Amino acid sequence: THIDWDVNAAEKGGYEHFMLKEMYEQPKAIMDTFSPRLKNGNIVIEELGMSEEDIRSIRKIMIVACGSAYHTGMTSKYVFEGLARIPVEVDLASEFRYRNPILDEGTLLIVVSQSGETADTLAALREAKDKGVRVLGIVNVVGSSIAREADNVMYTWAGPEIAVATTKAYSAQLISLYLLAMKFAHVRGELSDKGLADMIEELKELPTQVEMLLNNKNKIQKFANRYLAAKSIFFIGRGIDYAISLEGSLKLKEVSYIHSEAYAAGELKHGTISLIEEGTLVCSVLTQEELYKKTISNMVEVKTRGAFVMAVTNVDNTEVEKAADYVIYLPKTNKYFTNSLAIIPLQLFGYYVAVGRGCDVDKPRNLAKSVTVE
Ligand code: G6P
Repeated sequence: THIDWDVNAAEKGGYEHFMLKEMYEQPKAIMDTFSPRLKNGNIVIEELGMSEEDIRSIRKIMIVACGSAYHTGMTSKYVFEGLARIPVEVDLASEFRYRNPILDEGTLLIVVSQSGETADTLAALREAKDKGVRVLGIVNVVGSSIAREADNVMYTWAGPEIAVATTKAYSAQLISLYLLAMKFAHVRGELSDKGLADMIEELKELPTQVEMLLNNKNKIQKFANRYLAAKSIFFIGRGIDYAISLEGSLKLKEVSYIHSEAYAAGELKHGTISLIEEGTLVCSVLTQEELYKKTISNMVEVKTRGAFVMAVTNVDNTEVEKAADYVIYLPKTNKYFTNSLAIIPLQLFGYYVAVGRGCDVDKPRNLAKSVTVE
């Protein structure tokens, strides 16, 4: 009825879908997640419940999650290891709980979950607690099961997320993990006061930079409209860029139903390259300067075999134009924060391919927002 339509439109705040509305809420979700934890030029995470001594005694971090939350774990592995020099293992919750993992008192287990109700993630948390390991939850829904059962909870302040495909909660999870990695690195003497201060400044830039990228939406929609009939779309990258590729590929397939795979760029030649045909779209992500050349050579390999190559890269990497047919440039940020920017055009791309194909963007077939069964 007329009234239903009005209520619905009001909830979406004038946006066509919750997914688009929530993508636009990302600058706020990011800011709301870091602001309360920045105090007098320091990172203060009271809810962590860990003393500096506790932080110094961490020997290993294990990150356990499902879906997009698992991808934030993959990204943050590079951040924790690169910045804080703490070894990190990342597991899918459904694998972790059945593999008899080696956990000891030097292990910090981090579970990441938007809903705080994902059955496998909750089971992994219980398994770790049974073994006496400290569990930190990074959770969006206040008072959810994971939030209640974890030893400590660091909330992502993304607000309620309605669209099945996560966007703003994902972005807020990344911020929480960056804050932890920076804090740990600083306490453990791996990051100087100046290094920390510089990173905090770069963190504060992210909301405006994300907004800039969101404002490119018309350009991305036009590009997406060329791929509504694609059979397969591939994503490639190395290191953090591989983690971003996994999330970009997941967003696209969740909402558009187009087959998509993400590959570590160097692994392409061990199989996937045989799937490249004339006109196949390959989205490449290049945000890590030391890896530009390596990924460009993989782009050339697929282009030579007929692929149309799209690149998401930093504003200074114009070199990429030699191998790319279409380039999206990202503003400059810290090399550990690039996922927060690179994911924006990829979310928009997945969204607009789905819109163009007439898919039920907010409620894709066969998927649920919160998976409370095994
Ligand atoms: C479902 C959702 C995904 C989400 C995953 C993990 O599959 O559709 O968007 O990433 O569950 O959910 P959680 O609530 O634990 O983050």
